[in-house]
Amino acid sequence: MASAPPLSSTEALYRRWVGPLLARDDGADAEQLTQLTLTALGLASRRRHWPLVSGSLAGLGAELQRPDLRLEQTLFGCRFANPLGLAAGFDKNAVAAGIWHLFGFGFAELGTITWHGQPGNPRPRLFRLSQERAALNRMGFNNNGAVAAKRTLEEQHLPPAGQRPAVLGLNLGKSRITSLERAPDDYASTLELLAPLADYAVINVSSPNTPGLRDLQDATQLRRLVERLRRLPGCPPLLVKIAPDLEDDAIDTIARLAYQEGLAGVIAVNTSLNRRGLEKRRLAQTGRTLEEEAGGLSGAPLRGRALEVLRRLRATAGPALPLVGVGGIDSPESAWERITAGASLIQLYTGWIYAGPALVPTILEGLQQQLDRHGCRHIGEAVGSGLPYLSA
Ligand code: FNR
Repeated sequence: MASAPPLSSTEALYRRWVGPLLARDDGADAEQLTQLTLTALGLASRRRHWPLVSGSLAGLGAELQRPDLRLEQTLFGCRFANPLGLAAGFDKNAVAAGIWHLFGFGFAELGTITWHGQPGNPRPRLFRLSQERAALNRMGFNNNGAVAAKRTLEEQHLPPAGQRPAVLGLNLGKSRITSLERAPDDYASTLELLAPLADYAVINVSSPNTPGLRDLQDATQLRRLVERLRRLPGCPPLLVKIAPDLEDDAIDTIARLAYQEGLAGVIAVNTSLNRRGLEKRRLAQTGRTLEEEAGGLSGAPLRGRALEVLRRLRATAGPALPLVGVGGIDSPESAWERITAGASLIQLYTGWIYAGPALVPTILEGLQQQLDRHGCRHIGEAVGSGLPYLSA
């Protein structure tokens, strides 16, 4: 295996300029920082073939990508260059779909996209909890809507689904103005429009920030929704994304339903309403405690529960149902822990923001090392194996 290039410019820039901004809860506004980044990435994705841009992007790829056949997997008909993906909610409008592979990701989940464009909740609605390496958000599916997402994806002139360097999943949600009763039609309109552009689609029924949405996790409602979407022509592989706050019985029910309905997989987990241990933690921006604030918690405090939910899904559904682990993954150890507990794929959001782009190659190299230390020839041997994390 060729030795990896040293982490240089991107990591140095991030440490120097972004790190200090993230070190304080009340530093630069989290949402504005995200917006600024996405504007730049969106431009880069649309112009990625221009000579100057393509040169810089090639440098980024050389620094962050870690191609390795041992990390490649084909799951539900999609070929993943590696098991590490960008979680939903960062690129809500799919602006950077053409360049996520250059950050080292094997896949990126775009959205959540709703049929109707909507502004989301009033600001401030995204809060850093720097000490805890966590975040609280109540964005409320702010996005430009399905028609705009289609245009944005088309403007990037992506290779056809199935032939892209990173697998692209589209995460779909219910529009706020649509009643729960009409939710299946709302999701179906989005999927019908966007199906040709998606490698896979996610039924998001687990955001805590759209009133009533989580009720769709109920078995009867979820079955109705899945059956409605599956009938659509050209329906891509469908996964469902669940909340960490479900009771064990409800997790078992979803695992069985996913298996019976032939879903491509389950993504566990979305952000949490649980504030355990952080009830009295005050937000710098509002002066109120977390138990008084609405929104979903992400990052390091979610790690333990996310792992429990994944283990439960695996125990109930068995190895045939692909699982995607997300929540509090921020190191090679937490990545290995989730994979060996049964996740074929894993995703990052909050940990990636705090650590910066170098986290992706750090995790991929960590996985390669674990494979070496355990004598595994392929990442598939590690999935659900229970193999411990071996330090040097
Ligand atoms: C999210 N997440 C999310 N999930 C989703 O399915 N649709 C969405 O639109 C969003 N939006 C969103 C916004 C923000 C600001 C955050 C921090 C998170 C949830 C995300 O995909 C993931 O499931 C959780 O954040 C847990 O992973 P991490 O952040 O602990 O790695």
